[in-house]
Amino acid sequence: MRRVTIDPAKCQGHGRCVIIAPKYFDIDDSGFGVVLTDEVTDADRADIDEAILSCPESAIALSD
Ligand code: F3S
Repeated sequence: MRRVTIDPAKCQGHGRCVIIAPKYFDIDDSGFGVVLTDEVTDADRADIDEAILSCPESAIALSD
């Protein structure tokens, strides 16, 4: 199972990840992205890949 993360040092709260994959991402009270569930299923890989490509700050990463 691969794990998705948001680098808080890079995230600027653009929120594209939340629109693309709301099951995995949300915006916290401060307006920055947070990961809701970090274990990415194979079925959701395409959504996560799209979120990674869509983040203007390249803040999202997928690790083994
Ligand atoms: Fe942050 Fe990128 Fe999402 S800037 S809120 S991780 S689209």
